[in-house]
Amino acid sequence: RHRMADTGLVETLLQRVEKVDGGLDSQDVATSLGVDHQAIVGAVKSLQALGDVISAEQRSSKHWELTGEGCEIAEQGSHEARVVSSIPEEGMPQSQLMKLAFGKVGFSKAMSNKWIRLDKGHEGGPRIFKTVERLEDLVRDKLLLVQKGQASELEEKEKNELKKRKLLSEVTVKSYWITKGSCFSTTITKQETELTTEMIASGSWKEKKFKPYNFEAMGVALDCGHLHPLMKVRTQFRQIFLEMGFTEMPTNNFIESSFWNFDSLFQPQQHPARDQHDTFFLSDPAQAHEFPQDYLERVRKVHSEGGFGSQGYKYDWKIEEAQKNILRTHTTAVSARMLYKLAQQEKFTPVKYFSIDRVFRNETLDATHLAEFHQIEGVVADFGLTLGDLMGILHQFFNKLGITKLRFKPAYNPYTEPSMEVFSYHEGLKKWVEVGNSGMFRPEMLLPMGLPEGVTVIAWGLSLERPTMIKYGINNIRELVGHKVNLQMVYDSPVCRLDS
Ligand code: PHE
Repeated sequence: RHRMADTGLVETLLQRVEKVDGGLDSQDVATSLGVDHQAIVGAVKSLQALGDVISAEQRSSKHWELTGEGCEIAEQGSHEARVVSSIPEEGMPQSQLMKLAFGKVGFSKAMSNKWIRLDKGHEGGPRIFKTVERLEDLVRDKLLLVQKGQASELEEKEKNELKKRKLLSEVTVKSYWITKGSCFSTTITKQETELTTEMIASGSWKEKKFKPYNFEAMGVALDCGHLHPLMKVRTQFRQIFLEMGFTEMPTNNFIESSFWNFDSLFQPQQHPARDQHDTFFLSDPAQAHEFPQDYLERVRKVHSEGGFGSQGYKYDWKIEEAQKNILRTHTTAVSARMLYKLAQQEKFTPVKYFSIDRVFRNETLDATHLAEFHQIEGVVADFGLTLGDLMGILHQFFNKLGITKLRFKPAYNPYTEPSMEVFSYHEGLKKWVEVGNSGMFRPEMLLPMGLPEGVTVIAWGLSLERPTMIKYGINNIRELVGHKVNLQMVYDSPVCRLDS
């Protein structure tokens, strides 16, 4: 925003412009008012903003200025003159003269001016005598002229000589040539920027002066919210799922019991993932207490004794372990809750569910890992779904992301069998990279829930961060999530378009 210059200075400037016939140089005004030139420039700019009160033309002029040494000479005389005046009638040893600050330069100049002579054969060493009584210190006189602003009286040759001796320097000064404008006045009235209803009602607009619009001006950046890149990419993934007829699961609980996060998924209680090295445990409230009791009993049984054609894990399943509250380590906990709910329906109906939300893991932090990230998960439940259906739906899903070449690698998850890691061919890296994990939920998970025999559930999951970092060219996760995120990055990131 342009700040109005000191109004007193603006008025003084206008009064000066009024009195002068031609125009004024802003540098001269600054010198004669004893103010900084920038202050005059400020006043000029304020006046220019008011329209055609003054006309100010930028010009640059060169002028001569004394250097530090030049100033000293203007004050105390040239080195050579000072040499002469410091030599007494009986002369002075050369060595003594050389000790004086101006001695060296002064000696050679005074010699060539023939103001002094050197007696080399003098007993007691070389001695200097002066040969003139009175001298004209032309160098000093010239510098004094420049100091008085009368450099024009010197010849170009003379000035260049003094410049060579580093006594003068030529400087370029930028200034304004100020003349009266077509609307010149010594009293300034502020121009209106807005035509108001009051002005129209009272008719005062007729007397007002209006500031013309500046169509060149940049618009003010709008103060509005911006979506984080992760949220933009999430929108695209959500769109894909919706196009495929999926329904979003409610994922609005970061805290989960170990029961839903692990036990319901047939993940044994001594599984390393349930260790505090991998999972964040809550201290308050440390335990969950509300579980569907008959289902809990079936889960206990399938873990410890087996059932539904499975021999189970054959260990002593403990309710205390299942009760432990944690930050959910995967959104599959939500899928488990939803499948249990589905199983409670009187009559089974096929479903297609998805979720995209945050999960938490006690990871060692590095450029690609944080203790929290987002998972994208898809789940389909119906009678007789096969591994072929899973592969087909993965092809369909990744096709919509622009990923066409897929490969599947056998993998292991406690809750799926078979399990497959999903790889896609990366044209840039020229290699196969992992893009997701998938599988068919185990009967040990589905049957205790009460889902009918013959219903199979296929599911897959991937992270939201990885495709976002690729999409927005971010190499370090800490530039995307956390306290080091540059908000400008969030403001400047374009909307996400997945190239399908
Ligand atoms: N929950 C798995 C994970 O955390 C992803 C997954 C989801 C795997 C569904 C298979 C089926 O990586």
